Amino acid sequence: MAPPRARIKIAEPQIGEEEVEAVRRVLLSGRLAHGPVVEEFEERFAEYVGADYAVATSNGTTALFLMLKAAGIGEGDEVITTPFTFIATSNSVLYVGARPVFVDIEPRTYNIDPDRVLEALTPRTKAILAVHLYGHPADTRALREIAEDHHLLLLEDAAQAHGAEAYGERAGSLGDAAAFSFYATKNMTTGEGGMITTNDRKLAERARLLRSHGELGKYNHVELGYNFRLTSIQAAIGLVQLEKLERLNRARRRNASILNAELAGLNGVVTPHEEPWARHVYHQYVIRVTASPGRDVLRERLEALGIETAVHYPRAIPDQPLYKRLGIDCVDGCPHARRAASEVLSLPVHPGLGPEEARWVASKVKEIIMETI
Ligand SMILES: Cc1ncc(COP(=O)(O)O)c(C=O)c1O
Repeated sequence: MAPPRARIKIAEPQIGEEEVEAVRRVLLSGRLAHGPVVEEFEERFAEYVGADYAVATSNGTTALFLMLKAAGIGEGDEVITTPFTFIATSNSVLYVGARPVFVDIEPRTYNIDPDRVLEALTPRTKAILAVHLYGHPADTRALREIAEDHHLLLLEDAAQAHGAEAYGERAGSLGDAAAFSFYATKNMTTGEGGMITTNDRKLAERARLLRSHGELGKYNHVELGYNFRLTSIQAAIGLVQLEKLERLNRARRRNASILNAELAGLNGVVTPHEEPWARHVYHQYVIRVTASPGRDVLRERLEALGIETAVHYPRAIPDQPLYKRLGIDCVDGCPHARRAASEVLSLPVHPGLGPEEARWVASKVKEIIMETI
């Protein structure tokens, strides 16, 4: 099979004339910063996820931070979360002065294991911060039960999960509040950007207040707030991307099913799992390479063929220098997270990848694995 193009990237923002035209309209409108376009984006996004309120922010990290802050989490509190995620998840807990408590993942979905959460509860536990890693939702039904029994908040890091579903409901409406990212590589993008969704009016109001210098009425500042606003330029892109999201997610799912079918039964490779109650939106298509000589060799060989891959993530968070220095380890040693960090490999799955290209990527993975083991 001939290579479909010289280089296949691991991510490719899907931007067309519609986004360009929407930005043009905002640029010529004279309202570049916060304004009605941002409010429209918030309304549409809330409607899409099935939440009452949405608060747009400058990026996913500020959305996480504001969500925790608006939820009243702070000094002396503990937040149970996953050690296998992007650093922003647990850093946001540190920003508000609380302590992230890491428990192991469930090895098939790579998401926080609800059974482990129970073992990590202390009188200081205030919330569970679940990540829907790679676009597969965490088991929010099991987590919600724990949260309700122990009077905790259930918070979602939905940065990778626009359009994902658990038990028929969308990410962003599965807990007390959720934070999204619209970074350039995400399932939908505004370049940089973020959103908090919630049904809690007070939480939304507080997030709005803190987002814009604690300002209640013009130049009346009632709290120590921040500038975490999204621009109208970004919101205009977001509105168009939101319209496209279902189509983009369907293309991701089609590519994932091609990769799954082609790689099925291949010794030394474990394809992604989708729970029967879940809709996976494949922000990343992640295989586990258990065969020797392993993930890094496969990665180098694919790179030489012009197939970009990535490792999400090469270290469990407690193994990052910052967390080692802070002395924050997993409470249970998190063997599954640490093993996953050495085995996972993300293959291209983005909507810009055509079906033939997906088949080609899979055929090369197969060839290399069969040659090397
Ligand atoms: C799981 C997770 N949480 C949080 C973030 C932070 O989002 P941002 O990069 O928009 O600050 C990201 C994205 O990069 C992410 O993947």
